[in-house]
Amino acid sequence: MSIRFDNRVAIVTGAGSGLGRSHALLLASRGAKVVVNDLGGAVDGSGGSLTPAQRVVAEIEAAGGAAIANADSVANPEGAKRMVQAAIDQWGRVDILVNNAGILRDRTILKMTPEDFDAVVAVHLAGSAYCTMAAWPHMKEANFGRIVMTTSAAGLFGNFGQANYAAAKLGIVGLMNALKHEGAKYDIRVNTVAPIALTRMTEDLISPDVKPRLKPEYVSSMVAWFCAPENQATGDIVEVGAGYYARVQIMEGEGVLLGDGQVPTPEEVRDHYARICDMRGAKPFESANEVMRRVFGEIQRPSK
Ligand code: NAI
Repeated sequence: MSIRFDNRVAIVTGAGSGLGRSHALLLASRGAKVVVNDLGGAVDGSGGSLTPAQRVVAEIEAAGGAAIANADSVANPEGAKRMVQAAIDQWGRVDILVNNAGILRDRTILKMTPEDFDAVVAVHLAGSAYCTMAAWPHMKEANFGRIVMTTSAAGLFGNFGQANYAAAKLGIVGLMNALKHEGAKYDIRVNTVAPIALTRMTEDLISPDVKPRLKPEYVSSMVAWFCAPENQATGDIVEVGAGYYARVQIMEGEGVLLGDGQVPTPEEVRDHYARICDMRGAKPFESANEVMRRVFGEIQRPSK
């Protein structure tokens, strides 16, 4: 059966271009009514205009879909509330939120100013949180919600010159990890994509031979599945680009108990560092409580 979003209302942030535009077009083509949010600024976040959001709305309408444009900044809590209110005023509900808006201020830490750091964290991390906070009460009330976050390999694995961006992007994973618990009993599912796609953000970074393969549409198929009412997954991260889809997970190794009930010396830690770092038998955990239970279990186990 095909995935449909009839009678569903979706908000896609940063949907005036690139990945967000592609997500909005796909959701709308499957029946969703879409709030196309976009500040309409430059890649570094400067400037602003309603035109990019309006253009995407026109594309959706031309294809027979329903959409409204919104140019509030996700980095502004009041803006995030207005954006959600626009959906409520127009259609009376919010079922889907795709937190996608983003900017770049790439610099090494030596050259990065606090403003460069704050601006990037504000849009990606605080923006994802503010939009979620604004949408959440409506989802809770309806006992249904699908939220998709957007992280990056830069945050999951690191990248030179992107300390602000990487910090914000991994922060988004933390946000999801908490929300998957808070949303569980209301059927609010929260998942994350780590995209690789050709957009204005990446056009100077991607080699010309792979550019034709890196269509944002590949990422949108993943986003649409996460948004589907039938999707029961929550708390998942999927790296996606050019037809390649792979789950990413945070794992903890088996570990080693040192010190025999006493505080181990730094030398003992040094001497066991290879074992501490051994990832054979590593596994993911559902929650901090589960990690805690494991550690307490280890320390209470009778010594051999
Ligand atoms: P893009 O620059 O085409 O799209 C980002 C959109 O967000 C722009 O239209 C921009 O106006 C909008 N935006 C920026 N600040 C905003 C704010 N405060 N409020 C509302 N809208 C705002 O770039 P792209 O590639 O489509 O990026 C989308 C998301 O995907 C971003 O979160 C980005 O970090 C992430 N991403 C993209 C990758 C790629 O390969 N293209 C790789 C990893 C992550």
